[in-house]
Amino acid sequence: MKNKSISLPSASPLLRQDFTFGVATASFQIEGAAQSRLETIWDRFCDTPGKIRDGSDGKTACEHLLHWEADLRLIRSLGVDAYRFSVSWARVMHEDGSVNQQGLDFYIALLDRLNEYAIKPFVTLYHWDLPQYLEDQGGWLNRDTAYRFRDYADCVSKAFGDRVHSYATLNEPFCSAYLGYEAGIHAPGHKSRAYGKQAAHHLLLAHGLAMEVLERNAPDALNGIVLNFSPCYAASDSAEDGEAAKLADEYFNHWYLQPLLEKRYPDVLHKLPEHEHPPIQPGDMEIIGHRLDYIGINYYTRERYQESAGELFEKLEHDQHPLTDMGWEVYPQGLTDLLVDYHQRYQLPPIFITENGAAMVDKVVDGKVDDPERLDYLQSHLLAVHKACEQGVDVRGYFAWSLMDNFEWAEGYLKRFGIVYVDYDSQQRIIKSSGYAYRDFLLKKAQSSGSQHETGAR
Ligand code: FCB
Repeated sequence: MKNKSISLPSASPLLRQDFTFGVATASFQIEGAAQSRLETIWDRFCDTPGKIRDGSDGKTACEHLLHWEADLRLIRSLGVDAYRFSVSWARVMHEDGSVNQQGLDFYIALLDRLNEYAIKPFVTLYHWDLPQYLEDQGGWLNRDTAYRFRDYADCVSKAFGDRVHSYATLNEPFCSAYLGYEAGIHAPGHKSRAYGKQAAHHLLLAHGLAMEVLERNAPDALNGIVLNFSPCYAASDSAEDGEAAKLADEYFNHWYLQPLLEKRYPDVLHKLPEHEHPPIQPGDMEIIGHRLDYIGINYYTRERYQESAGELFEKLEHDQHPLTDMGWEVYPQGLTDLLVDYHQRYQLPPIFITENGAAMVDKVVDGKVDDPERLDYLQSHLLAVHKACEQGVDVRGYFAWSLMDNFEWAEGYLKRFGIVYVDYDSQQRIIKSSGYAYRDFLLKKAQSSGSQHETGAR
């Protein structure tokens, strides 16, 4: 039976007034207006034949820079508490390190409008779109990029003043480092295991340096980082597969979490040849382990691993149904397991689920988009968050990825993650049935927490 609406058990912590619900986007994926900013690594990657599945690019995307006011009205109409978006470094800074005032003014106007609408701005400083001139100097392989990021964070957070509710330094350093420098399927497209570790370390360093700046410039904001995790399950009960899954978990997940929370890399490090070790300099791990107000977690699917003859582990294909249009298994239990596992293993700061959603094949019929699978996905994952909270995990918010269909990186415009449909020819936005269900759920929540408030019942 397909869900028609979203609902949660009546005493769920997710229904409390102070639980934040939002929608999320990222600069390169929606903004367009490439001519009014510097070139980024994603522009260069898109221009390289064979890198983007449909041969597209981010030059126009959702033309958000043109339509931002209507887009913010759309966001308001959904009744969300918060909007997570990212700032394009290449739009707000010139190559010589000076400020691009016009670019900055765009974000300031956006922030002002959000505050006027009482929608909390969650600002991500880096969602993968590194200015190309920095890549020309080595990008994240160059330690200096971390210091340039600190300067950028300083400039932006000073200019934004107290307009921002929450900052995330980086979005998914795993993707920037591993997909971009190790697997080569994201910009800038390098393929080297040593590069992956080098880039990851400089990204984490950049994060720590920026945290120091944010603490100074935005002491009242919630300052943290957004990480993505796919929990790792063993393909069988065998000890070997169990060990493979554990190593994969350390390699892909704890590699980014443990340095932040415990100032060290996981033990799998010692299984790597020396030249693949991160280039740690004295004092780095202290900087990286800066206190966090929160961690944002992005969750989409799980992975399964088995032992491998020559490698540390081998990933299995997603063959368990249902699958999304990305070919990713729908596995809500993975979100509960992950949250509970990390909660037991670490001293976690408060958690926000900063991305969760599904690409599905959407069709416009009579001007409407009915997407029951996406609605099911959202419903089951909200329930998964609820279950984790019941087991003691401190989750404070949930953001649907994405507000609207957008440029899905190496997949171009072929995959649609929005709860709002985008017709790229006309730039028309159509709220999908999942978007309406999200809106109705939030409306009901607001009404009931309003009435609870009146009666004092909590
Ligand atoms: C995440 C990214 C986001 C989007 C989703 C589907 O890894 O942060 O930009 O592409 O995946």
